[in-house]
Amino acid sequence: MEQALKNFFLFLSKNKALTRAAKKYGLRFGASRFVAGETIDQAIKVIKELNSKGLEVTIDYLGEFVDNEAEAIERTNQSLEAIKAIGKEKLHSQLSLKMTSMGLDLSDELVMKNMRKILNAAKEHNLFVTIDMEDFTRCQKTLDIFRQLKIEYDNVGTVLQAYLYRTERDIEDLNEFEPNLRLVKGAYKESPEVAFPDKKDVDENYKKIIKLHLLNGNFTAIATHDEAIIDYTKKLVKEHNIPNDQFEFQMLYGIRPERQLELVKEGYKMRVYVPFGTDWYGYFMRRLAERPANVAFVLKGVVKK
Ligand code: FDA
Repeated sequence: MEQALKNFFLFLSKNKALTRAAKKYGLRFGASRFVAGETIDQAIKVIKELNSKGLEVTIDYLGEFVDNEAEAIERTNQSLEAIKAIGKEKLHSQLSLKMTSMGLDLSDELVMKNMRKILNAAKEHNLFVTIDMEDFTRCQKTLDIFRQLKIEYDNVGTVLQAYLYRTERDIEDLNEFEPNLRLVKGAYKESPEVAFPDKKDVDENYKKIIKLHLLNGNFTAIATHDEAIIDYTKKLVKEHNIPNDQFEFQMLYGIRPERQLELVKEGYKMRVYVPFGTDWYGYFMRRLAERPANVAFVLKGVVKK
């Protein structure tokens, strides 16, 4: 039943008509639990509050699978605005983005132009940018572009997903760049031809790649809400004397907020991924797919309206 619900929400996350409707009707159905607002001003308010509690942030202007140049330019401009606002307000925040919203599916020239604009502005404000990893069909291209950008910029990192068979190899291949990587389990619906179908295998591979990347001496963001993985990381860094400034934990805005604060109190760096913008629908559906128990929460929100 749980797997069926998961697949259902991942299916819904790609529905274009529902995406358009969601944009039109604004943040609904409990989405504001996971999304900081529709405007940069609302997001800034949330960042300030998180920063005041000792939490670091990475902000993401929501949007994905853009299919025309004007929209890709508009998305790039929104990210540039976010960078300026973070710089002006001197917030403890980095930037995350999806390259499909910068034109990845349209042309290499367009996506490179937009990424360079963003990385130049980010450099000016001393800000780090993480390229989120999207579905498997875009993985190779994302890594190719990341390699190219990493030669030109030192303020860029990307994400690798533990559910993909290829990831262990990617960690080794990227090691020559000494990259700052965010490691995650993976949020998209992938075929067993490319990804471990069993959660148990994903969790084992996750531990394996965390160890590999940390012992290679690289900065590692462990982005998970899974207590077993957090425990594993704590033991690993202790055992190998890995300093606290070589890694950080990351969680999504609205998920396990109390645990986020506890980890700060325990002396760890904790970064919260704060999404904002009108294009919240796909992101929200993936959060429901991760934990169908959240559907009860959503239904309560619908009933209340
Ligand atoms: P898992 O799903 O096994 O959950 C472990 C426990 O965490 C659950 O039992 C529950 O207690 C709690 N939990 C998890 N999800 C919850 C939810 N939605 N609501 C409430 N509780 C929940 N993916 C990707 O493919 N590309 C990317 O670029 C990113 N980027 C990214 C950044 C950051 C900062 C995070 C935290 C995550 C991502 N992800 C991602 C998503 C990631 O791949 C994964 O889908 C989610 O983090 C859920 O997996 P967990 O590791 O939390 O474990």
